[in-house]
Amino acid sequence: MTPADSTPAARALDEAVRLLQNGDLVAFPTETVYGLGAAARDPLAVRRIFAAKGRPADHPLIVHLPDATALDAWGVTEGTAAVVLADRFWPGPLTLVLRRRPGVPDEVTGGLDTVGLRVPAHPVAQALLRAFGDGIAAPSANRFGRVSPTLARHVREELGPDVFVLDGGPCAVGVESTIVDLSGPTPTLLRPGGLPVEALEAILGHLPPGGTRAPGTLPGHYSPRTSLLLSSDADAAAARLVGKGLRVEILWGTDEADHARRLYAELRRMDELGVDVLVAELAEERGLGRAINDRLRRAAWPHAGEAPLEDGDDPSER
Ligand code: TXA
Ligand code: MG
Repeated sequence: MTPADSTPAARALDEAVRLLQNGDLVAFPTETVYGLGAAARDPLAVRRIFAAKGRPADHPLIVHLPDATALDAWGVTEGTAAVVLADRFWPGPLTLVLRRRPGVPDEVTGGLDTVGLRVPAHPVAQALLRAFGDGIAAPSANRFGRVSPTLARHVREELGPDVFVLDGGPCAVGVESTIVDLSGPTPTLLRPGGLPVEALEAILGHLPPGGTRAPGTLPGHYSPRTSLLLSSDADAAAARLVGKGLRVEILWGTDEADHARRLYAELRRMDELGVDVLVAELAEERGLGRAINDRLRRAAWPHAGEAPLEDGDDPSER
């Protein structure tokens, strides 16, 4: 072992690779959110992800790859824009859904004939993928239905102290990857995310929304315990609710990137502080604003089937 190999970070990386090879789970940072990873070729290991998250087994997982050269081993790129998009946007917050190659486990795809693929940009994710040398299946490292983690501490709060977490600090993007479906006759958008849709549309043309896929596409998926009120005038809405004796905070960000980076951590912090209502204004519906608004609208849905809280509603009466 060289001296460089014995740093705590290098030892943690070695341990993570050993765990993955052993069929165990490893939580790791990406530039979007923390993922809970398993060796994507190992069906038993992948099943452990669903057990740890409490997630239904028919929900497909994203396979994380070290680089785009691995793309063809997992998905069918012929006749699609996959290679063009991969060249342009990987590593980065973009997931491509392609028809899957034979041999991709059903546990990964939820039995679908497609597979989601992404090359993450975070240096720790990159180091892990290179050291492991194969695909790592990973959903966000939260319990099913909860807010995605953007700090190593969040992962432990979600999944308990026993989960092995590579700590890469706070996630720089803060919302999940943009997902584009290239498996059909025309590309569709499955989830707005960290890569602005406009950047994809500059190459693909207009991207219509695709069919819904659980879970990141279900209303209420990102619900925090604190009620989230969407308002066109946060100050006025907050003043009204404070007047009713509620504990109120306003969600803010200096710009969209800052807003996205802090969004999930702020939702968690409100729960910890016991805040009754968090008031937020929607961002402009472009760039990262689309992803922010998508997550805000889901978080504002306190219970599936119930209307989101809007101006004039009183969350204490729900
Ligand atoms: O930024 C991200 O994408 C993070 C990091 C860890 O990479 N991952 C993430 O994974 O958000 P997850 O499982 O929380 O959300 C992945 C979404 C789900 O909504 C899933 O349904 C969709 O991707 N998905 C995965 N494979 C798919 C497929 N073959 N077809 C359609 N949707 C798919
Ligand atoms: Mg998720």
